[in-house]
Amino acid sequence: PVMNEVSGLRNLEEELKQKMQLQEVIIVPGDSDKAPYVKKEMGRACVSRLKKLDLSQNVIAVTGGTTLAAVAEMMTPPAHGEDILFVPARGGLGEQVENQANTICAKMARKASGDYRLLHVPDQLSEEAHQSLIEEPGVKEVLELIKSAGIVIHGIGDANTMAIRRKSSPEVIETLKAKHAAAEAFGYYFNQAGEVVHKVKTIGLQLQDLENCELVITVAGGSTKAKAIEAYMKRGLKNVLVTDEGAAKALLEGS
Ligand code: F6P
Repeated sequence: PVMNEVSGLRNLEEELKQKMQLQEVIIVPGDSDKAPYVKKEMGRACVSRLKKLDLSQNVIAVTGGTTLAAVAEMMTPPAHGEDILFVPARGGLGEQVENQANTICAKMARKASGDYRLLHVPDQLSEEAHQSLIEEPGVKEVLELIKSAGIVIHGIGDANTMAIRRKSSPEVIETLKAKHAAAEAFGYYFNQAGEVVHKVKTIGLQLQDLENCELVITVAGGSTKAKAIEAYMKRGLKNVLVTDEGAAKALLEGS
């Protein structure tokens, strides 16, 4: 039965890759909407995929969220004692402390026996404050490290869920609705065609920076995230998608 389950998942991976025109997909059993341990399984899969790379001298940028918190939980030191530096991908995105990129970044570094740098940016900044902040030497240094990241690990959220979780203003929620926002990643909101329809103003990694990365791992699962995953993946990026059976089946059932 175990063999059947494993080969069943490999078939599912192949089907999803074909259907969504993806470069690489890793599916773990279960549905993280129903069983929280499934997030940790995605975390484990993400960590083992990461370790296939030469991690020496690498800067890894990470985002926030509960899925990435599970990736941090499952992180282990690299096999050859490589020096890894973790940085948060972007500044404040309105998450609770335990789900913030900074927190996750520090935790990952600790679990990987690596190093980290943090980005201290308040969520709501005036244009003026924003400009002077990015000129600060300490902030500038971290921003340069972020831009140099060879590896990015990030989550995806459902647009509406994320807007509410971030306590976005009624105006923003209205805009997102009017523009049919479906997915959110790195503070960018996308419609079902994968087009950017809104962006949270914060510093750090920009969407176009992903093109220069050696590896981008997208970790997102749960059947309720299927539409969001589909929307974001429409961008046709060369990402590795780590997901779960719940999301994969919903993606294959959807038209
Ligand atoms: O806010 C950070 C973030 O990575 C978002 O970009 C993403 O939509 C969300 O978290 C995913 O959160 P979760 O893993 O908890 O669903």
